[in-house]
Amino acid sequence: MKNERGGWGSKVAFIFAAAGSAVGLGNIWRFPYQTGMNGGAAFVFVYLIAVFLIGLVVFLAEVSMGRMTKKNPVGAFKQIKPKGPWFLVGILGVFTAVMILSYYGVIAGWTLGYAVKSIRGDFSHKLTEEFVQNMFVHFSSNIGLNLILFSLFILITVLVVSLGIKGGIEKLTKILMPMLFIILIYLSIRAVLFEGASKGLAFYLKPDFTKINSRVILFAITQAFFSLSLGMGTIMTYGSYISDEDYLPSSALWVVSLDTFVAIIAGLVIFPTLFTIPGMSPQQGPALVFIVLPVVFSKIPGGAIFGFLFFLLLVIAALTSTISLLEVPVAYLIDEKKWKRKKAAIAVGVLSFIFGVPSILANVKGNFFSNLPIFKKDFLSIMDLLWGNISLLLGGFLITIFVGYVWGADKAIKEITKNGKKFKLAGLWKIFIKYFVPVVLFVILLTYVF
Ligand code: PHE
Repeated sequence: MKNERGGWGSKVAFIFAAAGSAVGLGNIWRFPYQTGMNGGAAFVFVYLIAVFLIGLVVFLAEVSMGRMTKKNPVGAFKQIKPKGPWFLVGILGVFTAVMILSYYGVIAGWTLGYAVKSIRGDFSHKLTEEFVQNMFVHFSSNIGLNLILFSLFILITVLVVSLGIKGGIEKLTKILMPMLFIILIYLSIRAVLFEGASKGLAFYLKPDFTKINSRVILFAITQAFFSLSLGMGTIMTYGSYISDEDYLPSSALWVVSLDTFVAIIAGLVIFPTLFTIPGMSPQQGPALVFIVLPVVFSKIPGGAIFGFLFFLLLVIAALTSTISLLEVPVAYLIDEKKWKRKKAAIAVGVLSFIFGVPSILANVKGNFFSNLPIFKKDFLSIMDLLWGNISLLLGGFLITIFVGYVWGADKAIKEITKNGKKFKLAGLWKIFIKYFVPVVLFVILLTYVF
């Protein structure tokens, strides 16, 4: 059975793979549009606090649970607490993974489509607000094209996951992630130097603290969970492949910092550019980066090539995230149901594809899924609300309770300090995992209900 499971090949492999899971559309697509809708710099400020005071704490809890049990989320809960309903938290995670994968894959398909648009020269003349808006609506409502892009994306994800942990995920992230960083930094330098960029910089970096309200806090914490792949057992699953020699706090800090760095840089590309386009508002919602990025590439020399490269690397970043999403249910089926890796990957891939189709239809005006009765929202937004927001927070809350009280914070610290390792902040971490984080998450969850 050991071969079906696999394990990381080296010490930095976990950092790369977990960063690969964390860095994705969450940083480059979701973070900017959330920032735009929630007041700019004030949101960024709260987000940074959420990442380090909540995200990092939960991250460490998930990783240590994964490494101790060496199991998928369901198996991990069962091993620590064989009796009672706690394994259901793992089941929730498995289910959430399939659901997030279904709509995440649709957005990933968009990035694939935009890579092609760029190399075709669609962004090579001066672009107006109206033009980029129309281009996006035209593109995202093309059902056939989106079905092709989406299925291609799911297919590649299934292929990589079938190859297993070492063969697939490790190789891909090690080469391509650094490339994405470099091109992103280059674009941010260009964007900051655009004429009129200062307005965007102020919006993005000069916080107006009066804008901080419960809504901003709610979305900032949710974004932290989504971006760090927390609350559904991804990091637990990846942690289960870590060797006992690794020092967990520094691995956790690395991944969390890298992920946050990428998000911040992505904002530095988007907002300075956005404010140079007459008539453009930061409150575009999910379409934001697909409207602003073409303008970036229309303004810089060699934009078609840069655009192509950038969207392609974004596809890869999304891919390393979808791989981590698929890995959760696959690890569950391998460990608990004794399935073969390949069969598990294909079955779950097909399932997410089926659930993803309505998220494609959601972008077609007048379609049933574009404005659901009762919810008065489109299907994709509902999926993101239910699975990308509420379920991750609920899962995160239950994980903190489980690690803090059922498994016990001291046992988790014992796992972290295994092999004579020191963890100086153990006392602080214990207070956070037992009191601070669960209380904050509980309050936030209540605001969703009311
Ligand atoms: N963190 C990923 C991103 O930012 C998305 C993700 C969420 C992946 C949850 C796994 C689990 O793109």
